[in-house]
Amino acid sequence: MPEHKRLKGRDLLLTTDWRKEEIEIALQWATRLKELRRLGIPHMNLLPGKTIFLLFFDKSTRTRNSFEAGITQLGGHAHFIAAETSQLAHGESPKDMGIILSGYGEAIAIRHDLVPGEGQAYMREVARHATVPVLNMQCDIDHPFQMLADLLTLREQFGENTSGLKVAVTWAYAPSYAKPLSVPQGLLMLLPRFGIDVVLAHPPEYRLLPEALELARKGSAEGGGTISLASSMEEAAEGCHVVYAKSWGAAKLLENPEESLAVARQYKQWICDERLMSIAGPDAKYMHCLPADRGNEVSNEVLDGPRSLIYPEAENRLHTAKAVMALTM
Ligand code: CP
Repeated sequence: MPEHKRLKGRDLLLTTDWRKEEIEIALQWATRLKELRRLGIPHMNLLPGKTIFLLFFDKSTRTRNSFEAGITQLGGHAHFIAAETSQLAHGESPKDMGIILSGYGEAIAIRHDLVPGEGQAYMREVARHATVPVLNMQCDIDHPFQMLADLLTLREQFGENTSGLKVAVTWAYAPSYAKPLSVPQGLLMLLPRFGIDVVLAHPPEYRLLPEALELARKGSAEGGGTISLASSMEEAAEGCHVVYAKSWGAAKLLENPEESLAVARQYKQWICDERLMSIAGPDAKYMHCLPADRGNEVSNEVLDGPRSLIYPEAENRLHTAKAVMALTM
């Protein structure tokens, strides 16, 4: 059986669930679909008449719209389900969601990212009962579609062989809300599998979840990329190719947003600005999954400047979402 056909019916709940070769196929498909779109060549024949259910327990701009636009471009259709306006708000079980939605369509995608210990477990339970692929649109552990888009962006920027790239993943201050931990964790879990050295920096309250760090260590052993800790943004940024500076909440305080933001206020100096980027080096790039707190996590100068990869990164959410839907559904 051709390699890509083996992905039919597969869930994507963590990037670590897929072998490197399978991730490679997804990236190749994303590149091909990106080119078809650039050339204006329709590809609605890939998923004609297929339905994906998009189940959101949290807000979204990029994820929702990349999936909705993506499935339309592939010839299918998305149903948006907000947890608060469906029977989920009355406690409908993941088992019932998995079985019933499997009867109506060809995939179920879920965002459930706010409470440590809940999102990934919820998705696994839906997947245990579903007979169609279940896709993780961000949970407490990982954000696989953001990770695929980020890896694609890195490859477009630095070349397909990413071995030896150095990426600083650093916490940054944000006053808006306590953001999930899944992006920094996802970066640690995926990038070292592709030979990338990741340097992590955060204030002491912002430790990542042990289960994610354990998966990251295994990935590092597999791919040869390293994971190291720095005590400041500056130390992490020194000599790196990419600064990925973004905020996340303190895991122990995610259910208490006020307290979480009060802790964050101690660290207002954790901002990615031109000063930090100059420590990284003249050619260093800036990445962020968005939404970013402008003027807090990152200065406008960096975000809107020539080093910023935020818009190619956001665009690649479309192509990677399309690739995984086309391969799995
Ligand atoms: N990066 C990302 O997941 O964006 P949304 O929260 O807008 O979906």
